[in-house]
This record gives sequence, C-alpha cells and structure tokens, in this order.
Amino acid sequence: MSAKGNLINGEWVFTDKTFNDINPSDTNDIIGTYSTAGEAEVKAAIAAAKDAFQTWQYSTPQQRFDVLDNAGTEVLARKAELGALLSREEGKTLPEGIGEVTRAGHILKYFAGEALRAHGEVLDSVRPGVKVEITREPVGIIGLICPWNFPIAIPAWKIAPAIAFGNTVVFKPAELTPGCAWELADILNRAGLPKGVLNMIFARGSVAGPLMIDGCDAISFTGSVPTGTRVRDQAVAKGKRVQCEMGGKNPVVVLDDADLDNAVNSVLNSSFFSSGHRCTASSRIIVTEGIADRFVEALGKATAAIKVGDSRADGVQMGPIASQEQLDIARDAVTKAKSEGGVVVAGGEDLTFGTPGYYYAPTLIDKTTADMAINKEEVFGPVASVIRVKDLDEAIAVANDTEMGLSAGICTKSLKAAETFKRKIQSGMVMVNLPTAGVDYHVPFGGRKASSFGPREQGAYAVEFYTIVKTAYQFPL
Ligand code: UN1
Repeated sequence: MSAKGNLINGEWVFTDKTFNDINPSDTNDIIGTYSTAGEAEVKAAIAAAKDAFQTWQYSTPQQRFDVLDNAGTEVLARKAELGALLSREEGKTLPEGIGEVTRAGHILKYFAGEALRAHGEVLDSVRPGVKVEITREPVGIIGLICPWNFPIAIPAWKIAPAIAFGNTVVFKPAELTPGCAWELADILNRAGLPKGVLNMIFARGSVAGPLMIDGCDAISFTGSVPTGTRVRDQAVAKGKRVQCEMGGKNPVVVLDDADLDNAVNSVLNSSFFSSGHRCTASSRIIVTEGIADRFVEALGKATAAIKVGDSRADGVQMGPIASQEQLDIARDAVTKAKSEGGVVVAGGEDLTFGTPGYYYAPTLIDKTTADMAINKEEVFGPVASVIRVKDLDEAIAVANDTEMGLSAGICTKSLKAAETFKRKIQSGMVMVNLPTAGVDYHVPFGGRKASSFGPREQGAYAVEFYTIVKTAYQFPL
C-alpha cells in the first residue's frame, strides 16, 4: 500500500517514515498508510502559508466563496463514501459518520456564504466632518490542531472560516484519523485554492505544536484539557491569538416533572452515542428524588439494550471505543467508581465480537456522589453516572460543581425551572429537553471555565477569531 502524503505548498510531500490508519472495530484492518511529517515538513508548511498569505489576504470574497462552495458540493456528493471511511477509522456508526460528513459539507457552504457577507461598519466620528470605518482583516497564518473524534467536521469548522476571511492555514490532524483529514485537504486543494493557502502535516503533536505556536499568527485547538492548557499557555506567552475547545463534564438535570421517555432518550443519545467521544457528551446525570428510581430503571434498561458492534454493521447503535488508550481510561474510571461506592446498573464490561476491536459496553453507574472521581474527571467514553438530589437548587449547585463548563441540559416541563436553569448554569451551551451533544453549525459553539479559552467557534461568531479589526478615521480634504 503506497503512503499518502502531507500537503505542502500545493504538493503532496512524502518522508521515509509512515504510520497506519487502523480500524478500531477490527484492528487487523489497516485502512491506509500515511507519511509522517518531521520538523522540516512542519517548517516548510509554515513557510508556504506565510508566502501564500501575501496574496491570499487580498483575494476577493468571490474567490473564497467559490473554493468553499465547490469543496462543500464535493463533500456532500461523496457523503456515503466519506461517511463509511469516517466510521471505519473513528468507530462511530455509519449513520453517524454520514451525518458528520453532511455537517462538514454544510459548514463549508455556510462559510462560503460568510465570505460574501458584510462584516464592516461605517459611522460618523464624534469630530465634525470625520468618518470612521471599522473593517475586518485576516489575521495571517492560522495553525489548526484537530482531534480524532470529529475527524472531518472539526477540521471543516476551523479551515472554512480561516479561508473565508482570507487567512492561510497549517492544519495538523489527529494521528488516529488521518483518512478523513487527507480527503478533506485533497478536496479543498482541488477546489481551486492557490498553492500554500492550505497545508496539512501528519506530524506528532510534540513536534508540530511548538513550531506551529512559534510560526503561526494564531492557533485554534480542539482536544483534551491538559494539552489545550499547554497550547494556550505557550501561545499566550508568545503573544499569539489562541482559541481552545477542551473537555466537558456535562451535567443533565432530570426533574420530577420530566417526560420520562424524552429524558431517557436525551441522556441515552448524549451519553452513549458516538461511544461518548464528544466533548459535549453528558456524563453526570443529576436526578431529583421523586423520579430517580423510575428514571434509573428505564435508563438502565435502555442502556443495556443499545446494540453495540462493528461501526459499519447494520442496525448498530454504538461502535467500538476509538483506541486502546480510550478503552483503558473507560475501564479504569468504572473500576474506580465501583471502588468508591458506585453501583453499575448497566454495562461495566468489555464486549467481544468476531473481530479484534476495542469494544466496551455502554455503562450506567448509580449511587454516585458529586465528589467522586467519576464526577470530576472526563472519561470521554460511554460512561455516565447518576447523582441523586432533592430539588432544583441542589441540582444546579451540583451541576456547577465542576471545573468544566461546556454544555448542560435539563429535562422538565416547567418553564420556570428551565428559565432558572438556563440563567444559573455556568456553561457555554444549555439544552432544554434535548441531548447536551449534537449542536448546530450556524450558531456559536464554546464553553466556560476550563472547557474553553478565547472567542467562540462556528456561525457568524467565528469572525471574531479569524479576523482582526481595523478602525480607520478619515477627514476628506
Ligand atoms: C457536537 O456535540 O455536536 O470535540 C459537537 C467535540 C466538540 C464537538 C461536539 N468540539 O466533541
């Protein structure tokens, strides 16, 4: 199998080192081989982006629209094929894979439109005869560090606004999911981008990270809290613009008056679908006493009934865990929760199928308390824990008792309770009678506290990070 290359200055660049893309549903299945970038390639990618910026920053909105719109059209036309690749390399189910590819196509088209929309203002000065113009200019070279859990949607929602607003890009995909990244870069490269506007390097984080922070004007990162915090601190120390989307420990509050089916389905979806590999996944299920027994029983049954298996097999609702490392984290978290007094209601064990894969049962743990490790540390796997509380006030206090603050949910029919929760919860996103995961692409995405740093991603708000404001004063003589 010949290796696929890194994209540098419009050319596919190969080195003598390679790595494999492995199917987590069947680790005997090698999906592809990719060329590993080293320091020299990372530096070349940064230099190419710097060069290309000299002209791309003055490109017309029409040029940027055309590239993103063409790329979006190809992504949507190939959604079945790319969705299958995504499902095969990341492990989410085929419908989830196709759904993510569709979302990436929509994101590309949305930001094609953003390139054409007006983002400036003109107003009168406080001084007579003077006019003030507020314009937005591209920032420069944007370094994008992307995770494996959304291997096409997250790159799309970082690359598309970067390009739409006239920046150039150095994109570092996650090592676990090079396949979708390569396809997206190839599509954009053929969609009419001048050479050097988008560069992609398959480098290790420890090699690429410091060089990118040094050489780029801005860094957008999505990944874990420890890595994101390091990236943030290093970038800030160098005076670089930085945006980090990190972990979650997202709560769902289920009140006595909740619709039982809706609450069970919301939690099932956001705790276990995509194997819990979403920073927006719900993991702390905070339930009031009046509904707790009924709810835990129903959720336990529904959890045990989730059909796990090969990500691309018919009818499978949850694929494998994406890697051995994530599997170990899930297992260890469950063991620790049990040792601290948690009671496993469903799951809590490895599963085996016909192929060697990282299979783990979706796991629900009851009788946990807010101070246990399971309610403090992100598992990023299909594990959720129940905390029983007496009322809404205690529920909100427990929900906010975390270092994270990405997404939060409440299941209730009470408008008053929902309004109180929306106002008092310390999170960037809040869902009423909906899963905490699964967000729209045309509205801001991001969190509070340790979950996020810098301006919001997505929707019209993406303009904040990917452009820099200039205020011009003009006195006509
Ligand atoms: C979603 O829930 O639809 O890495 C998106 C993540 C997030 C994206 C979640 N940045 O899981």
